[in-house]
Amino acid sequence: MRGASMIVCSCNVLTDSEIRAALNRGACPRTPFAVYNCLGCSLNCGRCIVTVRTIINEANAGTATGGSSREPCETDAIVLCPV
Ligand code: FES
Repeated sequence: MRGASMIVCSCNVLTDSEIRAALNRGACPRTPFAVYNCLGCSLNCGRCIVTVRTIINEANAGTATGGSSREPCETDAIVLCPV
């Protein structure tokens, strides 16, 4: 059993765990498009975009509580994601 991962994007077969991992890589993608880019895929049908945005918001809220600033997320994720 792999925990509580669920498929968020069925077009690209992305799980919430993969999306959270991309958000924790230090690149801090702030938009769904940046997340897809980091994971080497792109938006297709768009059904998942609200869920991806929610996961981003949750991750940003968690980051904000753990540090004194949000500086790491001020960086352009597309530059930092080599995929
Ligand atoms: S479900 Fe994510 S692009 Fe279609």
